Amino acid sequence: MALAHERVFGQRADTLVLPIAPYKAYIETYGCQMNFADSELVAGILQHTGYGFTQKPEEADLILINTCAIREHAEEKIWQRLRYFSSIKRSRPHLIVGVLGCMAERLKKKLLEEAPVVDLIAGPDSYRHLPQLIRQVESGTKAIHVLLSREETYADIAPLRLSPTRVSAYISIMRGCNNMCSFCIVPFTRGRERSRAWESIVEEVASLAEEGYKEITLLGQNVDSYNDQGVRFAQLLAKVAAAAPHVWIRFATSHPKDMQDEVLETIAQYPNLTPYIHLPVQAGSDRVLERMNRGYTAEWYLRRIEAIRQYLPTAVISTDIIVGFCGETEADFEETLHLMRAAQFDSVYQFMYSERPGTLAARRYSDDVPPEVKKERLERVIALAQEISLQRNRLLIGSKQRVLLEKPSRRDPQDMVGRTFPGRTVVVRGASAFARPGDVLSVEITDATSATLIGYASHPN
Ligand code: 5AD
Ligand code: SF4
Repeated sequence: MALAHERVFGQRADTLVLPIAPYKAYIETYGCQMNFADSELVAGILQHTGYGFTQKPEEADLILINTCAIREHAEEKIWQRLRYFSSIKRSRPHLIVGVLGCMAERLKKKLLEEAPVVDLIAGPDSYRHLPQLIRQVESGTKAIHVLLSREETYADIAPLRLSPTRVSAYISIMRGCNNMCSFCIVPFTRGRERSRAWESIVEEVASLAEEGYKEITLLGQNVDSYNDQGVRFAQLLAKVAAAAPHVWIRFATSHPKDMQDEVLETIAQYPNLTPYIHLPVQAGSDRVLERMNRGYTAEWYLRRIEAIRQYLPTAVISTDIIVGFCGETEADFEETLHLMRAAQFDSVYQFMYSERPGTLAARRYSDDVPPEVKKERLERVIALAQEISLQRNRLLIGSKQRVLLEKPSRRDPQDMVGRTFPGRTVVVRGASAFARPGDVLSVEITDATSATLIGYASHPN
């Protein structure tokens, strides 16, 4: 079977270009896992065009920054990096600076006007055109491509995997989003939802397994609405699981309004489908959920949690919560805390509401929760989430867990960090002495914090 990077690049005639000189590219990525997967596609396209890569922006001939627009703070960081790239460009006038991704799509031409250092802008559906866009800049004009597509899935483009350990890989199975959550910029930056052909996904999974990858995460904004020629997400999972029986398969993100029992049943059937469910709830008050246009109530959400625990008793469940959404009262917020207690999340990603121009919420409602109230609510969510995670992690002290090792611990390189099959982070004491990233160890859990389990490998292999 062909390896992933042996597949044909840019089959469309208009994207076939001859290699440029051996220039060096530097790619910096912000935002979600999908953005990281996109950067690997971009790296694949650049490599095919003749580029080499560097880890240092100061040495690069081409800097690409793959951006996120989900909250204002994410964009502030990008402006700061553009100022830094501008200082590099002063001593390297031939340097090309390009902005990719969601912020590029959101701001379009405005970015060129406000940041003179930027030469090139490409939105999430425009990466196939990068070689021509770079040519255009080389010939002296700024280049921009931000058209969203109804078809683009990059199914024929082989990503260049950027992870140095080659243990875990991401695969995008769909792009865009058709939900209209009122707070969210994604439908505007990533366009309409489309599913990638299931055959090409299964082929890529099989190639990665052959290359020795141990863990693959399937990515989509809303995996439960995957549908390619009648193959729905549950069937895709089954095909993927069968194509790589020794690889741990994860996926994200699920949507509470669409998550089907059939998916949970399928996970229970295959020993390599991991019982990890990321199920963003956003808020616990029905009034707020309605304003967010989420399409479910708190009670519905909790019934979905019950279903997960019924089919998958060892499931790890995580969620996203937004505090301080338009009109959120103290009573509304307390319902979020109440729901957190009822759902018993293993981990929570929490955010202060950040108004995004052009979204439904920005047009309809006023961002009226004061920043200090948002901050205080965020802290209360963090405190409760930690309390619950700690309790849940402590229940595992004394148990044995299979752990897939990812990398040496940053705190103490003698230790290694990995994940249990359902997805909890584990620090394995002293594992660097006898194990390597990609090994699966049986670990006895001896201690726990709210964020990690700690243990010892009982039988090194
Ligand atoms: N403000 C704050 N958080 C947001 N998210 C999405 N849009 C916003 C926003 N405008 C959060 C949601 C989503 C996660 C990826 O980011 O919780 O699930
Ligand atoms: Fe990912 Fe959303 Fe950020 Fe785009 S805006 S990078 S889809 S999190």
